[in-house]
Order: sequence, then C-alpha cells, then structure tokens
Amino acid sequence: MKNSIKNPKVILVGAGPGDVDLITVKGLKAIKNADVILYDALVNKELLKHTKLNVKCIYVGKRSCSHKFKQEEINKMLVDYAIKYGTVVRLKGGDPFVFGRGSEEALFIESNGIETEFIPGISSALAVPTNQGIPITKRGINEGFWVITGTTSTGNISKDIALGAQSSATLIILMGLRNFSLIMNEIKKYRHKYTPFAIIQNGTLPNESIVIDTVENYKKIIDSIDYTNPGIIVVGDVVAEHPSFLEEEIQRVLGVSF
Ligand SMILES: C[S@@+](CC[C@H](N)C(=O)[O-])C[C@H]1O[C@@H](n2cnc3c(N)ncnc32)[C@H](O)[C@@H]1O
Repeated sequence: MKNSIKNPKVILVGAGPGDVDLITVKGLKAIKNADVILYDALVNKELLKHTKLNVKCIYVGKRSCSHKFKQEEINKMLVDYAIKYGTVVRLKGGDPFVFGRGSEEALFIESNGIETEFIPGISSALAVPTNQGIPITKRGINEGFWVITGTTSTGNISKDIALGAQSSATLIILMGLRNFSLIMNEIKKYRHKYTPFAIIQNGTLPNESIVIDTVENYKKIIDSIDYTNPGIIVVGDVVAEHPSFLEEEIQRVLGVSF
C-alpha cells in the first residue's frame, strides 16, 4: 500500500462496557474525528452513528469460535488503513488494555513507525458489578479485588483463581462462563461455602441479567447460563450487598422454596 497520507495514526479507544453513554468524552471525540474505525464484537454499534459521513467501519470481532479475521490480519489492517486514510480508531469493548490484546496491536503499529494514542475505557470488570449496586470493595469486608481471566490462551482456568481465592479480595472473573464449574470448584477449596457469587450477563445493557447464589449451590444455576452472552462472575462477601441476595436469604430462612 502506498504512503499517501501526511499523518498516519492509530488511536486505541475503550468503548466502555456496553451502554453507549458509558464511553468517555475523549473516546467519543476520537470516533467523531476518525477516518476509519475497526471495532470489536462487544462494542455497542450505536457508537458508530457518531462518525463523519462515509467513514469505513469494519467489524473485526472475535467471539468464542467465530473469528472473522486473525489477529495478524487485524494488526496489518490497522497499519495499512492508517497509511492510506489517516486516523484509524481501534474501538475495543471496555478498556483496550484489559484482556483486549491492545498492547500486542500497539506494539505492531509502533514497530511499523506509526504513531499510537490510547484512550482508556470503563472496563466491564468494574462497571458491571457497580451497575448492579455490588460494591467491589467495602471497608471491613475486603481490602481489594482481583480481575482474572477464567480462560487462558490454552483454554484452562488461570492459576490466579486459586491464589485470589486464598485472599479476602473480591474476585472478578472475565471470560469464565464456559469454565464456570472448574472455577467454582477451585474457589470452594478456599472460601467458606456460604460465600456469595453473582453471574452478570450483558451488563449495563437493556437485556442485562443477574443470578446470585452461594458457592455451595453453584451447580443449581448452571442451566441458567446463556453462553452466547458476555458475562462476568463476581465472588466475595460484597455480593451479599445486592438486594436479591437478601431476599433469597430471607426465603431460605423462612423455608420458602424459590
Ligand atoms: C475479551 S474480554 C474484553 C474485556 C474488555 N476489554 C473490558 O475491559 O471490559 C471480554 C469479556 O469481558 C466481559 N464482558 C465484557 N462486556 C461485558 C458486559 N457488558 N457484561 C458482562 N461481561 C462483559 C466478559 O467476560 C467477556 O467475555
């Protein structure tokens, strides 16, 4: 491809967790000024309505088994489009550097001599529990939180799940639904059996759903998981702050079936 543009540049932009209003002002400005946009599966498509006229918006999403482009192809597209058209926005769900392969892309772009810029996004890891009113930290309950992948590049669960489970921290597990049973089995070894957990799917979107139970009961909710929707698992005593946990506890104490 011929070098025809004066200022080729790629901006890695975090689109936020799903709700269009949860992108940053700076991220939205970048979308409005972009010459080309490459966007991921979990980006809210409504955001693309803010582009200039006739801007190329290319879907390069990867969800579980369906990969439209290989990572190497995406890297090359970013460089080629920047050279040909100018400012490319690489729009990623949540924050570009939280399990988003953002640093790999940045490395490739920079190694081709193209300027990069980074605009943080609100990660689903924080926004999704907060949107449900689950405090990620609470004085007297825990002293921090871990954000861990539930599926490593080999398909296994991360060893950090066992390490995090040995602390008092809230565990926030992304990409973990398909390994849910393995994850809960691991956590059960270290946390007490009444430890509450939540699975929140499509967080911050109109079709958001939440299931809450305790670690000892995790098998009861397996059938309610819809693996086609993105979801996070939150484990820790802070989950008990959710109003539905209290309702379920009251029903349990009163012996009402639910
Ligand atoms: C490849 S990771 C990207 C994370 C993203 N960079 C971020 O900061 O949120 C994708 C995972 O994020 C989680 N996720 C993203 N958006 C979500 C949402 N709206 N609701 C629940 N989980 C979400 C799911 O665990 C999903 O499998």
